[in-house]
Amino acid sequence: MDNVRVGLIGAGSIGARHMKAMEDVPEITLAAIADPSPATVQIAAARSIPLYPDVGAMLAKGGIDAVIIATPTERHHQDIMMALEAGQTVLVEKPITATLEEADEVTRFAEKQGCHVLVGHQRRYYPCAAMAREIIAQGRIGKLMAVTGQWTTRKDDDYYNAAWRRDVKAGPILTNLIHEIDLLRFICGDIATVSAEMTHHDQEFSKEDAVAISMKFTNSAVGTFLLSDRTPTPWTWEMALGENVRFPKTGQNAIRFLGTEGALDFPNLTLWSHASEDGNWHDEITAERIETPFIDAYIAQCRHLCAIVRGTETPIIDARNGSKSLAATLAAANSAASGRRVILEQ
Ligand SMILES: NC(=O)c1ccc[n+]([C@@H]2O[C@H](COP(=O)([O-])OP(=O)(O)OC[C@H]3O[C@@H](n4cnc5c(N)ncnc54)[C@H](O)[C@@H]3O)[C@@H](O)[C@H]2O)c1
Repeated sequence: MDNVRVGLIGAGSIGARHMKAMEDVPEITLAAIADPSPATVQIAAARSIPLYPDVGAMLAKGGIDAVIIATPTERHHQDIMMALEAGQTVLVEKPITATLEEADEVTRFAEKQGCHVLVGHQRRYYPCAAMAREIIAQGRIGKLMAVTGQWTTRKDDDYYNAAWRRDVKAGPILTNLIHEIDLLRFICGDIATVSAEMTHHDQEFSKEDAVAISMKFTNSAVGTFLLSDRTPTPWTWEMALGENVRFPKTGQNAIRFLGTEGALDFPNLTLWSHASEDGNWHDEITAERIETPFIDAYIAQCRHLCAIVRGTETPIIDARNGSKSLAATLAAANSAASGRRVILEQ
């Protein structure tokens, strides 16, 4: 079978991560790059592939089966629509688009064109995430009652040198919380309501310094989440798992799922339960460690993209589903700004 030929739109920092992953997937070929940055000339030359300063020119030339869109978020809508117009299968980095209106338009157009859109929520590919989902679905912690988690770290001061990163549009809600929300949706199901409080009394930029979120899932479980980019702690997904070599691995878990018959510490899975079914606070509670392999999620995502192009799989997270993660994330920002609880459309 011929290789799946991919056109990369945007070869910046996450674009480079996709290129690295593609090198480890024999059934995929990086066929072209579209990026107007002079920095990309060397990247394309090193791979002996065509470079287009313009997305339209790359699509018009043809010869590709799928695109990976890794441009700045505000460009996602325009780049996806052009790719869908050309009948391409699309992998777009998270968030699907900058606004819900744009995401709805993408969903409708993808359906009209009969094209697949895969949203780049890479955490869904980790075996620990799939295992947590299965443990909860199988009722191994009983009825899911609650979830609590945090993503709390201190970003380096240089991170905020670029003025746009001090703005609420690039704060930890829109940059980081979307990964947490998507993971919670993947494991626990859809979110029905979101409320949030935020503070920026440290840096005093318009972006948030710390946020407390409370939510209710459609299955009636409740959840809380703490988020901060100003607090040095060992409790983030990346540090827990060692997902990203740029951040030290602590192995400290950051999320807990609580059921009527047990609890699950995550992402390094530990299942806590009493020995008997009617065990209670008077009884010993024991821990069972559940091992899952650590993988490169970007390689898994590339393989999934190939399978979608070949028609053997459908997106693990499509445009409609990716829009729901965006909606729940934007709801936290809107609730923090308005002081009101947000009820999400189902
Ligand atoms: N999944 C993740 O964990 C993750 C991590 C980082 C970034 N992202 C997402 O990836 C996207 C890109 O982020 P980044 O950090 O790589 O940004 P970046 O600025 O490093 O890269 C963006 C690239 O897009 C190029 N570009 C700009 N305009 C273009 C155009 N008109 N046509 C083609 N290319 C164009 C730029 O020249 C640059 O090379 C964002 O949406 C971000 O949210 C996701």
